[in-house]
Amino acid sequence: MCGIVGVVCDENCQDYIFEGLKLVQYRGYDSVGICQKNGEQLKIDKTKGLIDKLITKTTPLPGAKVAIGHTRWATHGAVSEENAHPIEGKNKEWVVVHNGIIENYQQLMCDLQKEGEVFKTQTDTEAIALLLSLNNFDSPIKNMIWAIKHLKGSYAICAVKKQEENCIYAAKYKSPLYAFCNDEIAMLASDPICFPEGDYYKLEDGELCVAKKGNIVFYNMRGEEIQKTKQRFQKIRAMADKGDYQHFMLKEIYETPEALKRVAKNFLNVDFGAIKKLKFKNVKLIGCGTAYHSCLMGAAYFRKYLKIDAEAIFASELRYDDYVIGPHTLCIFISQSGETADTIAALEKAKAKKAKIISFTNVPYSTIASLSQIVLPISAGPEIAVASTKAYSCQVAGLYLLTQALKSEKHFYKAIKQVSELAQTTEKFFVNMADFAQDIAQKQKIYFIGKGSDYITALEAALKLKEISYINCWALPAGELKHGTLSLIESKTPVIVISTNKSVHEKVMNSALEAKSRGAKLYLISYKPPQICELENFEFCLSLPKAPQPLLCILAILPMQLLSYNVSLIKGYDPDKPRNLAKSVTVE
Ligand code: M6R
Repeated sequence: MCGIVGVVCDENCQDYIFEGLKLVQYRGYDSVGICQKNGEQLKIDKTKGLIDKLITKTTPLPGAKVAIGHTRWATHGAVSEENAHPIEGKNKEWVVVHNGIIENYQQLMCDLQKEGEVFKTQTDTEAIALLLSLNNFDSPIKNMIWAIKHLKGSYAICAVKKQEENCIYAAKYKSPLYAFCNDEIAMLASDPICFPEGDYYKLEDGELCVAKKGNIVFYNMRGEEIQKTKQRFQKIRAMADKGDYQHFMLKEIYETPEALKRVAKNFLNVDFGAIKKLKFKNVKLIGCGTAYHSCLMGAAYFRKYLKIDAEAIFASELRYDDYVIGPHTLCIFISQSGETADTIAALEKAKAKKAKIISFTNVPYSTIASLSQIVLPISAGPEIAVASTKAYSCQVAGLYLLTQALKSEKHFYKAIKQVSELAQTTEKFFVNMADFAQDIAQKQKIYFIGKGSDYITALEAALKLKEISYINCWALPAGELKHGTLSLIESKTPVIVISTNKSVHEKVMNSALEAKSRGAKLYLISYKPPQICELENFEFCLSLPKAPQPLLCILAILPMQLLSYNVSLIKGYDPDKPRNLAKSVTVE
């Protein structure tokens, strides 16, 4: 994954890099580095940890007019200062930052070692830096083309050459790269949010460029100059401010009501006629992680309200499995970031099979949006915390609206009203989960159970909690406990029970009590308060406010998100930046 930024300007180039790296930190944050260049002088600073540490460590290189920076999510090689980028080639002739994975790196390493090259890091990126230094072509862009012809995998590369004037050489294949220039500055970045206001260029696979102040020249793989048109600037993933909140995650949970209102408003502008014209017979909803849980919820809505054969598929599974997809399949790809590599690859596979493609994303200029026939807006606003919260609620609300719109106009307008009212209900439903969190934070393992849509909420609640508290959490359909997992229930094992569906409430309670009989401690999130006689079964009971049954799941996940946040804090972790993860997962 990783985020890269490059700049060519007259002064303070390190500040542009630091600002940009903060904005692309969602792509990884285990280590970070910068290379400043003034003529043949190169200064590299890198460190484990976050950007502020790098800022403290880095002194400006006087007269530097070029800089490249990188924030890493380790794929090859441990998280260490030496493996942080920028990575230098032989004699620092070329210095490189790279986002992506070089799949033939082992082979390249063997070949390069046979040529006498010495690897100083454990990174695949070093192979690129070494390849660049191997030849002395008359133009550095030829070195770039020659080097990348040897690469298999994905890459967005920014490189500087010691003996060349103040410019950056860049190339892109299957990892995003954008370029910007005006009279004062030229920039390259993994995300156009790093750029000043103004239109920008999107590099396509197999394209390269040379960026100089005031001028960017683009090339194809044959080394021919190509003309590119600029894209309109739509700054939606702006670096949101934490305001008075301690963390983005908390702020984003609290932004759920506003976000839901936006979903209702923006869905009024969706051209559902165009979706109906796609003429599909079955539906696949595809995503990863939290987005996959929205897919599960969406598939249930399609089956329930439209009686259409619909299923949710993990994008990473669709890539390599034999799902039956063809011209009559509507594939809905859900992705907050719109850049998830597994989802992009699954989309490309579905496209090759001539499926109809809709994407549902929070970033209108994202790769996933650009590959789709129709784009639905998640409308959550910027989501910075790694744990997805408000985006999930918006995805679920949007999928409900979609199915109601496909059912009839009357159903759609009723659903719009329901979502708007739900937004108001959520405003008053930010429950204090601190005490519950104190109890949960002491546990080694936690089970979540529910039936139907409550099982999906259980999955999402378990993912949220494990993601930021590092507690082993497991969700399962209530009725499945007795088919194996019950053997893991011991004295005081916590089981969180989610029940929002009156028609199966008693069934869920039966499963919960089976766990209690084996010693479990039960915690209940329910559509109704427990009866007095039931109270003694539960350590904690929370009843949800009234809402239409299909939308109760959005209310049920809110306290679970707050619980996860509180547990993470109690355990002393940073809920915004959980270990080993990144906001946008742009590698397979
Ligand atoms: O950007 P995407 O929605 O495609 O991301 C998919 C998952 O990586 C993401 O939802 C992940 O599971 C979250 N961090 C969970 O909170």
